[in-house]
Amino acid sequence: MKCQWGLLFVGVAIAQAASLERNVGSGRAAQVHLPKISTVATNASQAIDRRLASFSFELSFLPTFAGNKSHPNVLTRELMKRLEERTGVGPDVRPGGISVDSSVFDPHAPALVLDESPTGGIYKSTFGPAFFDFLDVFPKSTRVLWSVNLGNNTIGFAQAGIKAAIKYIGWDRLFAFELGNEADHYAGGSRPSGWSSADYTAQFIGWTSFLTRNLSLPHHIFLAGGFAEDPTSAAPMTTVSIIKDGVDTTGVIKLFAQHTYQYSTCDPARNAIATLAHLVNHRNITAYLDLWKPQIAAAHKAGKEFIVASDLEYSSVSCSGKQNVTDTFGQALWLADTILYGGTINIARMHLHQGATLVFQSSQQANSPGFSWYDLWYPVESDRYGAARASPSFVAYLLVTEAVGRSGLARFSLIDVPEHPDLAVYAIWDPAVRKTGIARLAVLNVAVRNETTSGEDAAGMAVTLDLSPYVQKGKQATAKRMQAPGLDSKDSTRVTWAGQSYANGTAAGEEVVEKLKDGKITVEGSEGVLVFFA
Ligand SMILES: *[C@@H]1O[C@H](CO)[C@@H](O)[C@H](O)[C@H]1NC(C)=O
Ligand SMILES: *[C@@H]1O[C@H](CO)[C@@H](O)[C@H](O)[C@H]1NC(C)=O
Ligand SMILES: *[C@@H]1O[C@H](CO)[C@@H](O)[C@H](O)[C@H]1NC(C)=O
Ligand SMILES: *[C@@H]1O[C@H](CO)[C@@H](O)[C@H](O)[C@H]1NC(C)=O
Ligand SMILES: *[C@@H]1O[C@H](CO)[C@@H](O)[C@H](O)[C@H]1NC(C)=O
Ligand SMILES: *[C@@H]1O[C@H](CO)[C@@H](O)[C@H](O)[C@H]1NC(C)=O
Ligand SMILES: *[C@@H]1O[C@H](CO)[C@@H](O)[C@H](O)[C@H]1NC(C)=O
Ligand SMILES: *[C@@H]1O[C@H](CO)[C@@H](O)[C@H](O)[C@H]1NC(C)=O
Repeated sequence: MKCQWGLLFVGVAIAQAASLERNVGSGRAAQVHLPKISTVATNASQAIDRRLASFSFELSFLPTFAGNKSHPNVLTRELMKRLEERTGVGPDVRPGGISVDSSVFDPHAPALVLDESPTGGIYKSTFGPAFFDFLDVFPKSTRVLWSVNLGNNTIGFAQAGIKAAIKYIGWDRLFAFELGNEADHYAGGSRPSGWSSADYTAQFIGWTSFLTRNLSLPHHIFLAGGFAEDPTSAAPMTTVSIIKDGVDTTGVIKLFAQHTYQYSTCDPARNAIATLAHLVNHRNITAYLDLWKPQIAAAHKAGKEFIVASDLEYSSVSCSGKQNVTDTFGQALWLADTILYGGTINIARMHLHQGATLVFQSSQQANSPGFSWYDLWYPVESDRYGAARASPSFVAYLLVTEAVGRSGLARFSLIDVPEHPDLAVYAIWDPAVRKTGIARLAVLNVAVRNETTSGEDAAGMAVTLDLSPYVQKGKQATAKRMQAPGLDSKDSTRVTWAGQSYANGTAAGEEVVEKLKDGKITVEGSEGVLVFFA
């Protein structure tokens, strides 16, 4: 088994007291020659959705992240505003995950009541009308993917859940409905051991036909898939297989989804390789996401979008993320590379899962959440993490949202630099801000520079790119950096985007926007840079 629960995801550092000045056009670092980047989008993605960097929240933990109507969680609200400021829209939100498959709407229930199922372990989550108030913490422009219970095999639960969502969320915010979570893991649990792609497809068609008629739903409103397993030949069901089985023959599907978990700590063998060095590796990231290319292509061929819920996902307390790996700045570099590459290969949106170790534990545990080691922020104080704050990976969402921009017209292309395997370079065209030529360029240097790395070693990792061919005549190219004292840094107050940290959700410190000198930019190891040409 891979993880459970839902799914997705993402230096002033200047190791040795070097100044930002030195970074700009430094003559010391290795010179990198980029292949020529075309003035028009070439080998590029589709137009990038402004909501590329979106979220998933474990249903049972949404209240912890959201606060309540009278006291919305200030940190969550502020962090979401930081994203909306950059793209003009709030990220999409999917309250979902494994707790959906034991969830029941009760019009007379309070916001959320959690209890144990008779089979032990898994909670039943009963939610009432007030549950929907939790969504108020997100920007008004945030759309909701609403998940309903499929696991229980009782269509009335799904019917009641969708009906309530229409009433309490409303069509202006509802984006799509999802049936169940990771249905490829149902076999031998809530379904017979032979539960197959064809069985899923038949049930999906039957239920969506009934629900569409019964609730007068618009066409093309359901998300199909949402499977956990990597789409290898061993996967019991994939986007490709359910399309083959006829899932898209009744006009109800809006988009397809699958989940990605690049690493896991659920067993010793996989735990051993879940290291920062393996994680923050451009080749590993692209090779892994490339597994989904046939799935994405199948969805597009069917005229649908493809989304991913991805992250490092774990199924129990003992393996809920990985300390000193997913709670470091390294996670920011992993996220930035993963999301930018995901956009490049036409994943429409990536829903980074925010959760905590709950479902399989006792009811007391549910009341004192131990946030997952990979959460982008810790919304309330906890024993494990101390004070509420953004995690060191939050800045990746700032880099990515600024790379995406506000137009909805940006297109990405990976610029291959084979002689520098630690460099991930993404060209970004955006006709809304520059008609001819690249508008932005993202550079991630994922060479491992720890906090304790020597100055000499750090110097060996720095690279200088000559971007002068792309600078517009008469215009000053500028750059913002995503930095930390090291890849292993865990202190959010020392992790910065454009010189500012975001531990409490608002920018602290002076903003630093660098001016390129002679079109050159130097990027240190374990650092990200976004260059603006327009
Ligand atoms: C809302 O949250 C605040 C702060 O946590 C708490 O004091 C209050 O009792 C909550 N209100 C409701 C209705 O739960
Ligand atoms: C379905 O839900 C009912 C009521 O909550 C519960 O008793 C039953 O155990 C559930 N069955 C499954 C397979 O989850
Ligand atoms: C929807 O289904 C419910 C439960 O089966 C039924 O009571 C109701 O009449 C149906 N409504 C419509 C409009 O089909
Ligand atoms: C990832 O990268 C490392 C090198 O840093 C390599 O040794 C490893 O085999 C790669 N693959 C995986 C699955 O970690
Ligand atoms: C993480 O690092 C801290 C401090 O360096 C150490 O005490 C702790 O044991 C480490 N945890 C793991 C799981 O390696
Ligand atoms: C085109 O882009 C893809 C990534 O989307 C990359 O893997 C491939 O190498 C690129 N091809 C060329 C010729 O640059
Ligand atoms: C960086 O630190 C990690 C542990 O935090 C260690 O495993 C790794 O070897 C270090 N790498 C370098 C290049 O110092
Ligand atoms: C966050 O901290 C800064 C000072 O660094 C302060 O100006 C700001 O008001 C704080 N924001 C919140 C939401 O507490």
